[in-house]
Amino acid sequence: MNYEAILKEIKPTKEEQEEIDAMSDKLVGFLEETCMREGIDAKIAVVGSVAKRTALKGKSDIDIFMAFPLSVSEGTLKDTGLYLAHKCSDEFDGDASHHFASHPYVSTVIEDYEVDLVPCYEIEDGSQLKSAVDRTILHTRYVKANLTDEMADEVLLLKKFMDMTGTYGSEFKVGGFAGYICELLIIRYGSFEETLRQASEWKYGHVIDLEGYGTSSNFSDPLVVIDPTDKNRNVGAALTLGKYAEFIQSARNYLASDNKMDYFHPLSKELDKNQILDEFEKRGGDLIAIRFTMPDMPLDTLYPQLKVTTESLVEKLTDAEFNVFDYGYWSDEDSKCIILLEMASSKLNNIKINVGPKVFIKKACDNFTAKYGAEDCHIMDDYLVHTQKREFTQASDYIAHIFTTEHIGLIKVGKNLKKSIVNTYEFIDVEDIDLEFLDNFLNPGQHIVR
Ligand code: UTP
Ligand code: MN
Repeated sequence: MNYEAILKEIKPTKEEQEEIDAMSDKLVGFLEETCMREGIDAKIAVVGSVAKRTALKGKSDIDIFMAFPLSVSEGTLKDTGLYLAHKCSDEFDGDASHHFASHPYVSTVIEDYEVDLVPCYEIEDGSQLKSAVDRTILHTRYVKANLTDEMADEVLLLKKFMDMTGTYGSEFKVGGFAGYICELLIIRYGSFEETLRQASEWKYGHVIDLEGYGTSSNFSDPLVVIDPTDKNRNVGAALTLGKYAEFIQSARNYLASDNKMDYFHPLSKELDKNQILDEFEKRGGDLIAIRFTMPDMPLDTLYPQLKVTTESLVEKLTDAEFNVFDYGYWSDEDSKCIILLEMASSKLNNIKINVGPKVFIKKACDNFTAKYGAEDCHIMDDYLVHTQKREFTQASDYIAHIFTTEHIGLIKVGKNLKKSIVNTYEFIDVEDIDLEFLDNFLNPGQHIVR
């Protein structure tokens, strides 16, 4: 494999690198000066992939952390941190937005660079941790000390491979591999190819414990990567079982492939609406597509809530004997969300069996026959049962019943989504759905193989 050619495409050029550095220096300089002038006790540091030389060309954000002493209260850290962040963003005409879900920070766009300005505590080791992001400065230090320039290139190959096969990114939407895990994998295995060879043999619960802390038995996640800067932290905690499995299989596919180059490029595929709709038609399932308005909410809570809601709805439908073949959810991350159900069948017969007590419990059986009439009851195995009229014979009717203020409690719904679903949901036609989402729904395996 000609990895040099790939690196040419994915590694920032010297000029690009210098530009990023100049921009980072400018921002750090401004923040440091502001702190000095206003008597704010905070250390400013460039962290993340830019600092570690593991940033992919044109993709990575500039991560700037403002580290406050541990003596500062959390309230002050937040207020002063956000104050500094906004001041910096304004100074350079940034377009700032808040993200408040897990940790307060400001994400802004300055001259085409996405910049994250994050307040944190200054700690020396993991045990002093006060907020979730405090380790980041330690991570940066560890990676810089343990990753050679050659290894940094291997990290780029691994990140790009994962990005193109759909397993890169620790945010909730993906649930995949964080950049930091990629760096630790290369520190462990030395190269991109060796990482894939090893990964192709991984079992559930594989352990990577670079510093030999011996704390892996505290974790039961699919992949356990003990944080070299904190023996009580599994860096792989946010990696979902699904993405772990996809990476293992994509590694096997890659190693066996004659088209290795293609794994570093996006799927090149023309999406044809008629062809996609035909494909659904051929599968013959009943499609139920539901659209509702996306409420104003932090993006990192959107996907977990969509997941819970969809899975709970599917469970309810299944309990009612409707047969859901497959399901998915999607959002444009701006104004709308979609739940798509592909039903093996969405129409049921008019009657259902109401299972009563075991025949051996006389009192309960007497109550049951008193209620339903002995002449209408019969025995199934050793149960007394009663045949009754089914309330909902169409899945969509049952969904309409559930999506009301009175009945929405029947399912688990993300708390930000509840009102919006009840007030704005509508059944729509599949042809009004985003084509890429439909294509991925039909071809769930297409990203991990070329
Ligand atoms: P980023 O998500 O920006 O990662 O988080 P990155 O290493 O800079 O990679 P890219 O190139 O932008 O995708 C910045 C830092 O936050 C910590 C890591 O220390 C990371 O370097 N972090 C982030 C985690 O420890 N875990 C996560 O899931 C995410
Ligand atoms: Mn980053």
